Amino acid sequence: MKNGILVYAAPDGDVEAAEELASRIGAELTRDENTAASAGLCLRFDGKGAALSGGGMELYADLTRMIPRIRRGNLNSEILIRAAKPSSLGTSPTALDATAGLGEDSLLLAAAGFRVTLCERDPVIAALLKDSLRRASDVPELSDAVSRMRFVECDSVSYMNGTSERFDLILLDPMFPERKKSGLIKKKLQLIQMLEAPCDDEEELFSAAYSLSPRKLLIKRPAKGPYLAGKKPDHSVTGGSVRYDCFRCDK
Ligand SMILES: C[S@@+](CC[C@H](N)C(=O)[O-])C[C@H]1O[C@@H](n2cnc3c(N)ncnc32)[C@H](O)[C@@H]1O
Repeated sequence: MKNGILVYAAPDGDVEAAEELASRIGAELTRDENTAASAGLCLRFDGKGAALSGGGMELYADLTRMIPRIRRGNLNSEILIRAAKPSSLGTSPTALDATAGLGEDSLLLAAAGFRVTLCERDPVIAALLKDSLRRASDVPELSDAVSRMRFVECDSVSYMNGTSERFDLILLDPMFPERKKSGLIKKKLQLIQMLEAPCDDEEELFSAAYSLSPRKLLIKRPAKGPYLAGKKPDHSVTGGSVRYDCFRCDK
């Protein structure tokens, strides 16, 4: 069973999705609200969608909180967009987000005009992401960007090694071991961090991405963190606590 997680199917939730996921990851399935509420970690499928709960907290992946960041005038000051420079990649550029997580960085790229393929390998995070994309497609401020986002539940190393697709940009943001944990929002994200394993395949991720020869490979790191797999980038763009290491692979 994955991290001892329980899967809860509420009567008004997507029972089929709950059953399929529980069976795939070998988790116990409950239909009892009280059992779900007392579980250490629970993936809930209820009338509002899919949520992760535990320790009195509940987390729905929610892309609506990104709306202010994707507004014209704000988007271009996002450090990811400054590093990606979409205008240098032609019209309708393509991107692969090989570590999609809850899809926030992918949304920024899609809002900037990229057609984005999102890969996520963790089945619980994938369920949260899928649900949040479904809900976001009905939100007028998000629907245009979401229409350019395609989700694939997979290990991106295998995906990149097996695909003949070409991408203008590949983004890697594997979990960094020393993320700080403070404040209410960060506390909620600790629920997610209970699922994520620190990256143990840095070399494989880097070389699979580099070998696909994107015009640009971006790696998100903490501002003062070491290079992924020790690879020195062509240049870096730093802002606040985050750094993007940028590689040109099509030289
Ligand atoms: C730090 S989070 C990414 C956050 C994301 N950039 C966002 O904006 O929400 C890292 C995610 O990458 C996923 N991941 C790590 N290695 C992966 C791989 N080889 N294939 C697919 N997903 C991977 C983890 O499961 C985790 O959800």
